[in-house]
Amino acid sequence: MAALNRIQKIASHLDPPKPFKFKVALLGAAGGIGQPLSMLLKMSPYIAELSLYDVANTPGVAADVSHMSTAARVKGYLGPDQLPAALAGSNLVIIPAGVPRKPGMTRDDLFNINAGIVRTLAEAIAAHCPNAWVAIISNPVNSTVPIAAEVLQRAGVLNPARLFGVTTLDVVRAEAFLGEIVGADPRDVSVPVVGGHAGITILPLLSQARPPLPASVTAEQRKALMTRIQDAGTEVVQAKAGAGSATLSMAYAAARFADSCLRAMSGEGPVTEYAYVRSSAVQGLPYFSSPLRLGRSGVEEVLPLGPMDAMESENFEAMKAELLGSIKKGEEFVARGP
Ligand code: NAI
Repeated sequence: MAALNRIQKIASHLDPPKPFKFKVALLGAAGGIGQPLSMLLKMSPYIAELSLYDVANTPGVAADVSHMSTAARVKGYLGPDQLPAALAGSNLVIIPAGVPRKPGMTRDDLFNINAGIVRTLAEAIAAHCPNAWVAIISNPVNSTVPIAAEVLQRAGVLNPARLFGVTTLDVVRAEAFLGEIVGADPRDVSVPVVGGHAGITILPLLSQARPPLPASVTAEQRKALMTRIQDAGTEVVQAKAGAGSATLSMAYAAARFADSCLRAMSGEGPVTEYAYVRSSAVQGLPYFSSPLRLGRSGVEEVLPLGPMDAMESENFEAMKAELLGSIKKGEEFVARGP
């Protein structure tokens, strides 16, 4: 029996049951998020080829990650000349390229640098892998997703069902904080987080949390929890004191998002995930983070936001102007031209 188990184990290693078939490109792979995310993606059972691109230091990261004894083949690409090869044939492109916040900065303060980086990378995606799913991590996400959409649209290849702003970290944080409060494993906790990815545009729907918040939690405590989820990124920026923003929890969140995309692409549905996408979920806001049903072709359905309590409705109304301003800022950046 033990011998049989051993043979089965070896056979399953040689012939893995999962479909190791997708090419995933990571742009900004040598950065604070990029490095741990490279490691986590190398462990994915869905990835046949992991393409690591950056403007600095990718040879070292690729050499390091390639020594992990998992199936994905790793290739490093350095600098704009190698970007076409990094992208060609990619099924999923993940973008954490750009500068992170320092204490005292808002995500919007990053706009001037990151907007140009995302525009350049989106142009390359349009040229070299126009059918790929694209997941944008670079901040300010509320503006960088509209930037990428405008670039892809101008190139005639926009598919809004395949373009995502990654807001998974907000969901992950809400699950972690609520898990602490209710004493549950965060993996058994669910908290919808919708809206955008900056300050008050991050809207955790605590009234829909499962398990629910205990009745003993006061309105003030509920409000404090909401504010903590909204400001959690700043909590990390301050704790790192100039050394950057969230990288490890972000890499975890992005790996989870990538896994959802790859499971959906494989037809392992239904897959539900939150992301910031172009949609008509909220009148007057062309982009919004909603729960999504993902399938082989991308977003198959933008799911309803569900009921909000009075505090959530108030926050929902209060965020609209800021979110719309960030969307327009991104669109106007592309309209102005280089
Ligand atoms: P980092 O500075 O450590 O790494 C960024 C990497 O991007 C560097 O390796 C840099 O060489 C590379 N890069 C710069 N220009 C590039 C280009 N044109 N093409 C390819 N690569 C390029 O920054 P970190 O901490 O990894 O953060 C990256 C971005 O992610 C920031 O904009 C940050 O604000 C954002 N972020 C987003 C979160 C979210 O929830 N969506 C959470 C945390 C950070």
